[in-house]
Amino acid sequence: MSKIKVGVNGYGVIGKRVADAIRAQSDMELVGISDIISDYRLKTAAMLGIPVHSSLAAAEGEMKNAGIPIAGTFDKLISEVDVMVDCTPKGIAAKNLEKYKTAGVKAVLQGGEKHSVTGHSFVAQANYSSALNRDATRVVSCNTTSIIRTLGALHDASLLKKARGVLIRRATDPWESDHSGVMNTVVPESHIPSHQGPDAQTVRPELDLVTIAAKAAHTQCHNHYWVIELTRPASREEVLDAFRAAPRIAFIRMSDGIVALNSTIDLMQDLGRPRGDMWEVALWEDVLAVNGNEAYYTYQVDNQAIAIPENIDAIRALTGTVKDGRESIRMTDEAMGIKRCFLY
Ligand SMILES: NC(=O)c1ccc[n+]([C@@H]2O[C@H](COP(=O)([O-])OP(=O)(O)OC[C@H]3O[C@@H](n4cnc5c(N)ncnc54)[C@H](O)[C@@H]3O)[C@@H](O)[C@H]2O)c1
Repeated sequence: MSKIKVGVNGYGVIGKRVADAIRAQSDMELVGISDIISDYRLKTAAMLGIPVHSSLAAAEGEMKNAGIPIAGTFDKLISEVDVMVDCTPKGIAAKNLEKYKTAGVKAVLQGGEKHSVTGHSFVAQANYSSALNRDATRVVSCNTTSIIRTLGALHDASLLKKARGVLIRRATDPWESDHSGVMNTVVPESHIPSHQGPDAQTVRPELDLVTIAAKAAHTQCHNHYWVIELTRPASREEVLDAFRAAPRIAFIRMSDGIVALNSTIDLMQDLGRPRGDMWEVALWEDVLAVNGNEAYYTYQVDNQAIAIPENIDAIRALTGTVKDGRESIRMTDEAMGIKRCFLY
């Protein structure tokens, strides 16, 4: 079977990780990436041997001046691929979608775009089959992906009645912490529900959930706190089993010294993860508590990494090369080294 030819537009936080994940799959080929900048990020791509394209004619001269070899234009890249994964900042991918459609190229967009742009929002374990052979889908954002994985797990085990969650979000990404972010404060979001709850319902409308969010003064990872009303009184082990049965959720433990977000970040680096990335939802097994028909738990989301495997599955779903979502998840997880358990 020939490999799926993929291009990535926007080689930032998400784009460079998606590009690496594509290169790790035996059934995909990264034809090239495209961007408008000419700094260390694009120079690194060129040094890694990735063909670099210029997304805007105006950017090409600067890229060449910076010594970046240009493989061609954005249009040329589009003409050479089966799928474009657009990882540009909010709003740009929506404008590119018509271009992809005209070229007969499938498109994977990111969580910064509105659901209405593609009419389909994607998390592999929830709705892979409804993305099969579509022209486009939107991989939902980091927090929403984690919500679908965890509440989806409880729902699939017939345990979820309703869920209320508080999200402590990172202020900004590490690469841009010199020019944005908050310091020495916590900033509550001005609306309840925060957008992540309704966003999760674009993937699983049946979920009864409300989210409240705040931005805190750190740059890596989000932290969620959930209070769950179960459909019936259950044991702690039953709730843990529901999470064990779902993909891409890994347990962490206070008893292993994983006592805060920084511990997990350190663990990922010790495990030799690329960029220290954690693609799994890391759920504190020994903090989770159940009291009758209520469950309480907290978990950590690596916002830069969690949606990357979903992008890989979305590529397979749109092209229809793998019909079974569970098989695609298995292939992606094996190629990337995604775990159910980080430590013995
Ligand atoms: N950063 C996160 O934690 C995170 C998590 C999940 C989803 N997302 C979503 O992923 C998308 C990308 O976010 P990001 O954090 O990677 O952004 P980013 O700013 O890190 O990267 C965006 C890249 O796109 C490039 N770009 C800008 N305009 C362009 C254009 N016209 N054509 C081509 N390239 C252009 C930029 O130069 C940059 O390299 C957004 O929809 C965002 O909401 C981000």
